[in-house]
This record gives sequence, structure tokens and C-alpha cells, in this order.
Amino acid sequence: MSDKKRCLMIGAGGMAGGWIRHFFPPFSNRMEVVGLVEIREDVLKDQGDFLNLNDNQRFTRMEDAFSQVDADFCTIVIPPAYHRQAAVGAAEAGLDILSEKPIADSWEDCLAIYEAVKKAGVKMQVTQNYRFTPRIQTLKQAADKGLVGTPYYLMARFAADYRNRNAWGKFRHEIDHSLLVEGSVHHFDQLRHLTGADCATIAGWEWNPGHASFDGECIGTYVMTMTNNLRAHYEGNCLESGAQNSWHAEYYRIVGSEGALVLDSDHKVRLLKHVPREGVSTEELPTVGVTYDGHQAIVDQFLSWLEGGDEPPTVLDDNIKSAAMLFGAIDASERNEAVDVVAKLKSAIG
Ligand SMILES: NC(=O)c1ccc[n+]([C@@H]2O[C@H](COP(=O)([O-])OP(=O)(O)OC[C@H]3O[C@@H](n4cnc5c(N)ncnc54)[C@H](O)[C@@H]3O)[C@@H](O)[C@H]2O)c1
Repeated sequence: MSDKKRCLMIGAGGMAGGWIRHFFPPFSNRMEVVGLVEIREDVLKDQGDFLNLNDNQRFTRMEDAFSQVDADFCTIVIPPAYHRQAAVGAAEAGLDILSEKPIADSWEDCLAIYEAVKKAGVKMQVTQNYRFTPRIQTLKQAADKGLVGTPYYLMARFAADYRNRNAWGKFRHEIDHSLLVEGSVHHFDQLRHLTGADCATIAGWEWNPGHASFDGECIGTYVMTMTNNLRAHYEGNCLESGAQNSWHAEYYRIVGSEGALVLDSDHKVRLLKHVPREGVSTEELPTVGVTYDGHQAIVDQFLSWLEGGDEPPTVLDDNIKSAAMLFGAIDASERNEAVDVVAKLKSAIG
């Protein structure tokens, strides 16, 4: 028998198409897709043909796949509202899980998934691909080397022009908390990654100024304290009519006692240092290389873990802290108060 890991893939269109055609293929000597679930028949046919799957490996209902497919792990790439059904079903079928972010679209569903994964004793990793891009790795390594001296605080900005309805994919314009659930969870996770700490407290608001493009909240501004005492500020805007910091081009600035590191939409990491009476010097740092970029890094990490290697950084036990930050942000806005994220997590999972 081949020692390739067998994957049951849930979702075939949208981002799942990227997984099938770009993220998985470099690992064809380590894994294969042995089952595919997709509610849209045309998409199922197209991707099922690409993967050379037989009819008995193609499904429109995930429960049929869980009972019929002999797999090692399950990859979940469907909208967050269905993650609970998929992840709990996979855990109960004894499958390890590689899921797209967010864990789920509600705190209640995140905790149900957490409980099911723990009960089944399966492995789960959540896709936080943005941690593993050259531009972010360059920024992170520069910060870890102490180039800004003692870090004081971080700024993060995501801003994309989605003023045209469905410009960001249909479901995102219909759901509640659109910016936070579909977007900010990446940036909150990145703030944890860059600070090397978890969120202690979060305060701020999400809202919709009345724009017809979104039914739910699509702008947010938040401030955070981190468990290592750094502070962070996040600006998110899905109606950005000015400077864009969209996907893969987000703005981050790390400010410390000896300078600031800035990463903007031109992907260059710059070290700025102010010398009193002389001015500000700017040094452009060389971009570091990565073996695998973004999603491919995640696939490599997950397969290595299944093969007996190290636990990846974004496993469920880590990512539940980014989810707590996300749902803490929703609570903060609803209650108009600062939320203790550490206490939120502790009261839920101990
Ligand atoms: N990490 C990233 O950079 C990134 C980027 C985009 C999307 N995502 C994530 O990927 C997931 C999917 O997003 P998307 O943009 O591909 O959404 P999408 O609306 O394009 O849906 C993806 C596919 O899932 C199918 N689907 C929906 N419900 C299903 C179900 N119950 N069973 C089987 N198939 C079902 C749809 O028909 C569609 O083909 C989300 O969790 C999203 O946050 C991540």
C-alpha cells in the first residue's frame, strides 16, 4: 500500500479550486485526494475530472463521504457557516483535519469543533497562510533580531475596495461580521505572530456605515493589549476608497525604542531611524526566501506533522486564541466595552 496520506476534500470551488490545482500538486508524492465533496454538481464534475476521481469518490453530501471514503485526513474549504458540520463530522470519523480559517463563524461553533477534536484525539491545523509569506517572514525576522530596540506597539491595516456588491465573493456581502470573520481573523493572527504573544484585552468597534455593498459589518477599528505588554492597533475597511492595503499587501508597522519597521503595499520592509537634529534614515531590508510560500507552507507543515514531524505553529490549540480575539472583538463592539480575551478563552476551555 502507498504511504501517501489520503485526503477527503470538502469544497471544490472558490478557494478550494486553488487548493486542488495549486496548493496540493507540489506534494503529490506525499498525498492524494481520494474523495471530494461539493454541493455544486458542475464544480464537482470539473474538479473531480481534474483529480481523476471515480464516480464513487464524488459526493454532494459530506455525511455520505464520511461514511464511505477511507481517508487519513480531511481538508475543509467551504464557507465558515458550514465548518462545524464538516470538522465535527471529520473528527467523529477519526480523520485529522486541515481547515481553512476561521475555525468557525461563531464562538459556540469554534468550541464545538474544539471539543469534538479533543474527544476524538485527532490532529487539526488551521490555515493561517499569511504568516508564511516572504514579506511577513522578513518583517518577523527583523523584529526578532531587535532592529527596533525594545518594541512598544504595532499598527496593522487592511483596506480593500469592495464597494461593488459581491466584489469579495457573494457570501461575504451577506453574512454578519463580514470584515472580522472573513478578514480580520488573518490580521489578528498575524498580530499574535509578530508580537510573539496572545491578545490580553481588545476594545473597539465594527460597523456598517450604511453602504449597500454589505449586509453586515464591514469596517472595524480596534486597540489591543498583548500578554507581553505590547499594544496593537488594527484598522480594517472593506469600503476603502483611498490607499489600498488589500490581500497580500497589508500594512504593518512595529514601533520601538530604536526605530520602526514598516511594511506597506510595495512589499518592502523598511527600517526607519530618527536621529535628533539630523532626520530620519531609511534602510530597505532584503526580502528573505522561503521554501514554501503561504498555503503551500501550510500543506507541507501539516503533512510533516502527520508523517511524525513537528507540530505546526497554527494547530487548533494555538488558533483558538486567534478565534478568541475575533469573537472578543465582536463582543467588545456589541457591549461597547473592553473584553478580557484571556478570561474569555479560559472560561471556555480552561
Ligand atoms: N486563507 C486564505 O487566504 C483564504 C482565501 C479565501 C478563502 N478562504 C477560506 O476558504 C473558505 C471557503 O471560502 P471561498 O471563498 O472558497 O467560498 P466560496 O463561496 O467560493 O465556496 C467554496 C465552495 O464551497 C462549496 N460549498 C459551500 N457549502 C458547501 C457544503 N456544505 N458542502 C460542500 N461544498 C460546499 C461552494 O459550492 C463552493 O464551490 C472559507 O473558510 C474562507 O474563509 C481562505
